[in-house]
Amino acid sequence: MNKQLVEEWIDDRVAKADFDEPLFSAVKYVFSTGGKRLRPLMFLHAYALSGKDITEAVKDFAVAIECLHQYTLIHDDLPCMDNDDFRRGQPTCHKMFGEANAVLTGDALLNLSFTLMLKAAKECPAALEAGYEFSILSGGAGVVGGQMAELNTANFKAELQEIYYKKTCYLIWAAVQAGAIMGGLSEAQLNGLKEYCFNFGFAFQVYDDLMDINEKGSAPERSYVGCFGMEKAVSEVKKCTQNAIDALSMSGINSNFFVNLALKAAGRKE
Ligand code: IPE
Ligand code: IPE
Ligand code: MG
Repeated sequence: MNKQLVEEWIDDRVAKADFDEPLFSAVKYVFSTGGKRLRPLMFLHAYALSGKDITEAVKDFAVAIECLHQYTLIHDDLPCMDNDDFRRGQPTCHKMFGEANAVLTGDALLNLSFTLMLKAAKECPAALEAGYEFSILSGGAGVVGGQMAELNTANFKAELQEIYYKKTCYLIWAAVQAGAIMGGLSEAQLNGLKEYCFNFGFAFQVYDDLMDINEKGSAPERSYVGCFGMEKAVSEVKKCTQNAIDALSMSGINSNFFVNLALKAAGRKE
């Protein structure tokens, strides 16, 4: 299980999606600009705790998770949202293909995500439950709701934790929970992974905010650093990283992947 495999599965599913131009090129472009494939890898490693084999349904679900993530980023970068010209050091989708095409590319990836989850469910009944939970966590009561709250709240600082949980941790948890459900993990493992995901996800987002200062020279007002300062951000990342690692050991999960990932997200390991 590695990033290269996920890339192959993505290429295969995108090739079979039957998209016309310029949609096909736009989708190929967003997948070609890099990206860590973090959420599919977390899904796969949660699933792997079951010791079960990787099936076509698991591959479809892994790609579905990344499609949904990419859609959130395409829309997040739009002029009406974060108005970012670059992602991963390369022009954003709307800079390359225009704003309307970028909106529609995001839409197509969101749909492809659910096409692939439902395809997985035809082969593996557990994927239906995983997809149902995933749809809730990534939707209006989750990621979309978090993004909207960030744009609209009058009191960002007071709501920051809830917003970060929804916009970042819910998707990470949605991916890991799906792997746990499809793998048939125990309640204790599920609870441990959930605790891990919320702590890891929060550390990941605050660390992302810290990286934003280095790039831009100042912290956006609506960010952890903007609200609480750099020192508190650094100690928060450290605390959440430790909590994430502790949650694994307390629930008997022995996974170098998840431990190393937490350390990496906190910038303590390459
Ligand atoms: C970016 O996520 C969005 C955040 C939640 C900070 P990633 O850092 O996982 O994005 P890529 O896909 O690897 O670029
Ligand atoms: C992105 O959050 C989170 C989602 C797209 C759901 P940010 O706006 O903080 O992340 P970057 O800095 O654009 O990657
Ligand atoms: Mg953004």
